Amino acid sequence: MSFWRRAEVFCLAGLCFAAFVQASAAPIVVDRTHTSATFDGIGGLSGGGATSVLLPHYAEPSRSQILDYLFKPNFGASLQILKVEIGGDSQSTDGTESSHMHTEDRIDLHTGYEWWLMQEAKKRNPEIKLYGLAWAFPGWVGEGSGDPFKFPEQTARYLVAWVAGAKTEYGLDIDYLGIWNERASDSKFVQVLRKTLNQAGFARTKLVVKDGTLDICNELLKDKAYADAVDIVGLHYPSDFADFSACRQLGKPVWASEESSSYDDLNGAACWGRVINSHWVINRMTSSIMWNLVGAYYHGTDWYASSMLTSVEPWSGHYEVNPVIWATAHVTQFTKIGWRYLANGSGSGELPRGGYYTAWVDPSSDDFTMNFVKISRDHASCTRPPLPNFQVEEETLTVLLSPSMRPPDELEIWYSNFESYDADPSVFKHSTVQVLNGKFSLKVPVGAMITVTTIKTGQKGSFQGIPPSSPSFPLNYADDFQSSADSENARWFADQIGSFEIHRVEDGMRSLKQMVPLLPIGWTDKGSRGPMTLIGMREWQDIKVQVSFRLPPPAGRVPADAACVGVRTDQMWKNGVVLCVNYDGHWELLNSGPPLQGSSAPATPLASGMTKAVGSSWHVLSLEVGGSNEAQGALDGNELLSSVPVRSMDTGFAAIGANGWFPIEFRNFSVSKVHWAPPASCVEPRPGAVLTSEPCTRNGYYLQEQAWELLPSYQLKHDSGLCASGGAQGAVTLEICDSTKPAQLFLNDYTLVRNTLVEFTSKAVMKPLAGDKSGAVFVGKAGDWSKWTYFPNTKQLRNQYVADVSLGYPMCLTACPKKDLTHKPVSLFT
Ligand SMILES: *[C@@H]1O[C@H](CO)[C@@H](O)[C@H](O)[C@H]1NC(C)=O
Ligand SMILES: *[C@@H]1O[C@H](CO)[C@@H](O)[C@H](O)[C@H]1NC(C)=O
Repeated sequence: MSFWRRAEVFCLAGLCFAAFVQASAAPIVVDRTHTSATFDGIGGLSGGGATSVLLPHYAEPSRSQILDYLFKPNFGASLQILKVEIGGDSQSTDGTESSHMHTEDRIDLHTGYEWWLMQEAKKRNPEIKLYGLAWAFPGWVGEGSGDPFKFPEQTARYLVAWVAGAKTEYGLDIDYLGIWNERASDSKFVQVLRKTLNQAGFARTKLVVKDGTLDICNELLKDKAYADAVDIVGLHYPSDFADFSACRQLGKPVWASEESSSYDDLNGAACWGRVINSHWVINRMTSSIMWNLVGAYYHGTDWYASSMLTSVEPWSGHYEVNPVIWATAHVTQFTKIGWRYLANGSGSGELPRGGYYTAWVDPSSDDFTMNFVKISRDHASCTRPPLPNFQVEEETLTVLLSPSMRPPDELEIWYSNFESYDADPSVFKHSTVQVLNGKFSLKVPVGAMITVTTIKTGQKGSFQGIPPSSPSFPLNYADDFQSSADSENARWFADQIGSFEIHRVEDGMRSLKQMVPLLPIGWTDKGSRGPMTLIGMREWQDIKVQVSFRLPPPAGRVPADAACVGVRTDQMWKNGVVLCVNYDGHWELLNSGPPLQGSSAPATPLASGMTKAVGSSWHVLSLEVGGSNEAQGALDGNELLSSVPVRSMDTGFAAIGANGWFPIEFRNFSVSKVHWAPPASCVEPRPGAVLTSEPCTRNGYYLQEQAWELLPSYQLKHDSGLCASGGAQGAVTLEICDSTKPAQLFLNDYTLVRNTLVEFTSKAVMKPLAGDKSGAVFVGKAGDWSKWTYFPNTKQLRNQYVADVSLGYPMCLTACPKKDLTHKPVSLFT
């Protein structure tokens, strides 16, 4: 394809270069008489899952401001589509979202927060389109079979109850409905769903199939009845370089119905700005929807901050308006759903020296908008799929607006450069350009995303006085759950297995109750540990958790129902320190969450014992682990265990839960600090200082010598303002920051680095940054580890994401030339 040819030719020699200058000089012609497909809008995705969980309980006015940035027209992202998860009671990436039907016989239209979010979006933009999709289904839907298509009428009834509930309870029209995220679809089921929607009066709700891979197009081509029931082909992370011929033959709109999943710095903006143009130019996709809408989920749950806007501090109200907002605004503030794209070669296409341009026209007026985007290979990648190699070069374009465009004398320009690393990068800056004889010229540097438009309502919205960041979860913390509303999730808790909702019970008080009665048809979690909801920080170590619990009356389950509290747990309590006590009074201290009753092998406890039976009355369970890595536990204030040694490398959240699918209740939750002595800090490091690895500070404690910023240029900037430099194999030092020096560029997966271990490769020598237990850090030698992960709250680069027994206590990249106790560190563990 021309894409490749251009890259290769371009690399050849100066001669070819000249040819390109000539090619560049030919104007780009924009002609309204060649309109093409209808534009279906740019969207954001809340869910898949629980990505918005911290937002409903966010401090005001921040919460309203965040919603304005996302949805208010001509202000920020000004989204045209809101896609939400239809909660399915099972882990769907960052947690579980409550279903509207935990059981077959009861519909609850007040569970979860997507109803609220859809209303807030509509309030701000009545024209926004709504799209619902299930990641998981309650177990009853498949009658325990795990297959949502086994009883198609039943599953259709379940989904239509959600669509109908949106209308009757909230007046919301669901424009689009999907099937089962990134899992199977089914011809018969889709036909039944279409019929059921029509019969219930929702003929206007369109079906998107199948929110997954490209093979759906071949399936639909072979099955006319199936294809007839489908309105839109929804693909996830489509590669522009795949073969879409089968999809085109269907003659249906093709959408990137989930896209990006990329961390939201300038690189994430570059990825997103690029694909929302390239998907049209290369493959005629008419909509892209970004996962995810708002990063309101804790670091330590998957895909941290791969979001349009990051808001992970509900206690402080601090939030970050990411450049991705403005990449979105480049399209959304200057188009409307229903505008038409201009065809390839008549307003859309590839730029002569790499990159893309797109034109949209308003069919009912003379308005039009163009986008130009040119991103270099190092900064173009989204998390997936992989991109081929290519080169782009700055160029100056001449754009010729043909008379059909009714060229005005002046056009509005909105300019961003997602590869400019100045203190004040160019993001969404306004200017104008003169049009002479239908022509204007436009310089498109590498990194640019540029909008040229007749629309004059563009605005870089802003709010004054966003509260400063305070990443530390506020301790000590307590919640008796009495001030929450019925059916809602507990403030700042994030359910990971099962669904925990506030409900008023027979004594008139509220409990936090686990609502899932049977293993759901899951998305990722196949059900190995019991239900759990977590709170706090991935960095916590020395804490005490206490909660009152009540088990339901016995139902003969094996092993007996148990209540559990955890400290130092990871997202799915695979690791952690967990104390469970069961109905009969048997207790166990575990190094993970409890295996699910009956279906999973029992775990070997760190300690166990018997106390008096707890039965179905209220009890208080507590667990404490401190700096000596010894656990203490108590029931109703009476000691169950004390000084039980636990592993040193576990760090993580506080958690409460159970060992099975029963309605355990909780009240009076609290989490508090256990005393520990913070370390002293170093003298200010100077250029030339050699980097080492040292034990990471405890408890989310911010220590300057371990604090790094991962810049979008791929520099590692230390809190001192200096940058890591690995010019040759050997020691890594601190130097004055300069983004043009390859020695300072450590290429890494800028998205995954916050969620798992990734390699950092020195661009100067293309060797990894490695560390070892002796404390040495170097480029290019084998070490105990060559992969690092980033903890954004403490800004630490750690050698493990979850507990790694082979590495022992977590080690952090450190700049400490010489221990000197003059420097007082700032505590975040307050
Ligand atoms: C549009 O044109 C570009 C070249 O400018 C080409 O690479 C691309 O495949 C074309 N797209 C379609 C959908 O034909
Ligand atoms: C919760 O705490 C309140 C206030 O201390 C107390 O009155 C109540 O009995 C406790 N409830 C339970 C179930 O422990």
